[in-house]
Amino acid sequence: MTTQTIYEHLKNKLSQVVPDFELRYKAEIAEEILRLKKEKNAVILAHNYMEPALFYSVPDFVGDSLELSRKAAACEQDVIVFCGVRFMAETAKILSPDKTVLLPAKKAGCSLAASITAEDVRNLKKQFPGVPVVTYVNTYADVKAECDICCTSSNAAAVVESLGTDTVIFLPDEYLAKNTAKETGKHIIFPTRMPPNQFDSSLDYQMIGWHGRCEVHEQFTVEDIDNARRQFPDVLVLAHPECSPEVVEASDYSGSTTAMVHYVKNHKADKYLILTECAMGDNIAAENPDKEMLRMCSIRCPHMNEITLEDTRDALIHNRYVIDVPEDIRKRAYRSVKRMIEISAKD
Ligand code: 13P
Ligand code: SF4
Repeated sequence: MTTQTIYEHLKNKLSQVVPDFELRYKAEIAEEILRLKKEKNAVILAHNYMEPALFYSVPDFVGDSLELSRKAAACEQDVIVFCGVRFMAETAKILSPDKTVLLPAKKAGCSLAASITAEDVRNLKKQFPGVPVVTYVNTYADVKAECDICCTSSNAAAVVESLGTDTVIFLPDEYLAKNTAKETGKHIIFPTRMPPNQFDSSLDYQMIGWHGRCEVHEQFTVEDIDNARRQFPDVLVLAHPECSPEVVEASDYSGSTTAMVHYVKNHKADKYLILTECAMGDNIAAENPDKEMLRMCSIRCPHMNEITLEDTRDALIHNRYVIDVPEDIRKRAYRSVKRMIEISAKD
């Protein structure tokens, strides 16, 4: 594809969202990336939060965590360039160990993944012996290796229900756990840490949570929603399930990033407020020029925003940053991720 063709494609999609001079500049970088991608036999997977010019130019596949995991498991190229955060690139490596997985930024962390360690999970398992552990994919490989099954924002309730048990440990997102407990009718507790091998048998619980939070979604408030509704009485409010239960309750809809994309596409309303990373609002606006997307861009994910078109090009040029997962951890983490993909196969 020539730079001009890419520029025209971007202009067609993004002329209302990104200034023209920036589109010309981005088209040049995208052209380089597409050439390198071919040379290196690479596939580019990009999360829905990627900035519009990246999102609409170089990826082979875009989507939410679950969709991208499925693509990573099935791809045939030698190299996977993951335009997302580290835990997502790690999940791709867990599923496709023979591929070289590149993350275009050195860190690209996540406050949820940083909120829990493998040792924390081992301690919880000692405290609650025999209780199955579900961990959100927003965790690192060593944490996934300690759990029974993973989940994403699009299948959390289905994963919990698939276990068929009265009790479950659900880690590490406090709000996703509370929202999932509500959806599955479970009584959730957040226990205080006990000495190893001790268990407080007086605790009344069906779900055990952890105090991890998404540093982005925890910032949205019911007041934000009330203010938006006052100004735009006909607005539909969409909240990611990493938002607090109060925010989810006050919204019109809650779902994964891709579920939000579909919601806007399939509804006739003129105005939507999306309570998630603001770049996604641009991407949805580009796809739905007849609809107005309200977003709160003072609240951003600094980790997702580390990934740029320039870094994606440099990742391919310099073969960086290579994601490795020790094989013993990978094998155990694989079981949890694979089990999740299997139960979500019919979605
Ligand atoms: P999704 O799986 O819904 O895309 O969520 C990933 C994420 O990190 C949201 O903050
Ligand atoms: Fe992690 Fe929140 Fe950023 Fe998603 S938005 S990557 S959960 S910090």
